[in-house]
Amino acid sequence: MLKNKNIILGVCGGIAVYKSVELLRLLTKAGASVHVIMTRAAQEFVTPLTFQTLSSNPVHTDLFNLIAEREIGHISLADRADLFIIAPATANVIGKIAAGIADDMLTTTVMATKAPVLISPAMNVNMFTNPIYQESEQKLRRLGYLFEAPVSGSLACGWEGEGKLASPETIFESSVAALTAKDLSGKTVLITAGPTREEIDPVRYISNHSSGKMGYALARAARRRGAQVTLVSGPTALAKPDGVRVVNITSAAEMQSEVMTRAAECDIIIKAAAVADYRPLARNSTKIKKKTDSITLELVKNPDILAGLGAMSGDGSPRPFLIGFAAETDSLAINAQKKLNEKHLDMIVANDVSQTDAGFNVETNRALLFFKDGSSRECGLMTKDELAGIILDNAASRLKPC
Ligand code: PMT
Repeated sequence: MLKNKNIILGVCGGIAVYKSVELLRLLTKAGASVHVIMTRAAQEFVTPLTFQTLSSNPVHTDLFNLIAEREIGHISLADRADLFIIAPATANVIGKIAAGIADDMLTTTVMATKAPVLISPAMNVNMFTNPIYQESEQKLRRLGYLFEAPVSGSLACGWEGEGKLASPETIFESSVAALTAKDLSGKTVLITAGPTREEIDPVRYISNHSSGKMGYALARAARRRGAQVTLVSGPTALAKPDGVRVVNITSAAEMQSEVMTRAAECDIIIKAAAVADYRPLARNSTKIKKKTDSITLELVKNPDILAGLGAMSGDGSPRPFLIGFAAETDSLAINAQKKLNEKHLDMIVANDVSQTDAGFNVETNRALLFFKDGSSRECGLMTKDELAGIILDNAASRLKPC
C-alpha cells in the first residue's frame, strides 16, 4: 500500500514513544521508506538505534550534523517526503509549529516540507484542553495540517481523560488515507463481510470459514478513498475499521434485511460475505439432546441477497454498481461468469477457495475479475488490501459521474 512512498516520522518526547516504534513497523511492512527524526526529549525514552534498526535508515537527531548537512539534510529530507507524520506530538512541538518556530531538526524540516503533515498529539488531559494548546491545534487545522485525535483513557501521569496517543493502527490507517486519492468522495458504499450463522438450537449453528478479512479490507480501502462506508458484518474477530459504520448481523435473513433497507441509497454494493445458502427449517428452542445414533436436519434455502439486488434494475430505475464474489473450488471462470449473468451484476470477483493462500481466513487472495461488458482481469497472489484496491479502481473507473 505504501510502496515507493517516502515518509518522515517525527518523534517527540513522551511515554507514548513506544507506540511510534510499532507505527514504524506497520509503515515499513506496507512498503514505505521511513526516515525518523527524533527530538532531544524523545531520545530520553527510546534510543535512536531502535528506530534505525527498524527503519534501515539513519535516524536524524541533530540539525547541525556535519555529514547530513553536507547536502542540507533537513531540506532534502523535507523535499523527498510524500507524508510527514509526527507521533507522538507534544504540546511543545505543536505550539512551536503553530508559532512558526523552527529551532531543531524536527521543527525545521516540518517548516520546509510541502508534503501533507499528520499530527498525532499525546499529552496530559489538562494540557490538551488548555486553550493555548487548543488554539495552536485549530490554527494548524485551518492551515491544512491533519490531526489524529488522542483517545480517552488512563494517562501515564495518573490522570484520566483525553490525551492518550491514538493506536499505531489508527495512525497507520490515517497515513494511508492521507496518501490516497479521494476518487470515491461523495459516494455511498455498502460492503458485506464475514460468515452468516444459521442456528440449529441455542448452542449450535451452521456456518463457514469466512474470517471477514476480504470484506474489511474493502471497507478500509473505500473509506480511504473518501466514500461513506457501511459494513454489514457477520460474526468476526476483526476490529471495527476506523470511520466505517458497522452493522452487525448473525443470520442471512438479518443480512438481507440490513442490506435491502439501505440498497437504494448506495452507489456501490460489494457482497464479499459468505452467506449460508441453507438454514435449518426450524430452530429448536432448547438444546437438542444426544439420544439417537443419527439425526436428520431439514434445511431450507436462504434468500439470495445478491440476486435480489440484481433484480432491482428490473423496473429500469437506477441501481447501485453491484459487485459479487464467487467462492469456487472448481471451474472458477465458468461458475463465476454464470453468477455474473444470472444475478445481473456489474462485476464479479472469482476466488478459488480450495487454495491454501487464497480465499477463506488468510491474508492473501488470488482472483479473476469479470465485468458485465465481457472483459476480465487476472489478479495474481497479493494481499487482500491490495486486491481491495484493484477492485475499487475498477469500480471507480466504471461508475457513472454524479
Ligand atoms: O472472509 P475471508 O476469510 O477473508 O474470505 C473471503 C471470502 C472467501 C469469503 C470472499 O473472498 C468470498 O469469496 N466471498 C463470497 C463467498 C460466497 O458466498 O460465494 P458464493 O459463490 O457462494 O456466492 C456468490 C455471491 O452471492 C457472493 O457475493 C455472496 O455474498 C452472494 N450470496 C450468496 C448466497 C446468498 N444467499 N446470498 C448472497 O448474497
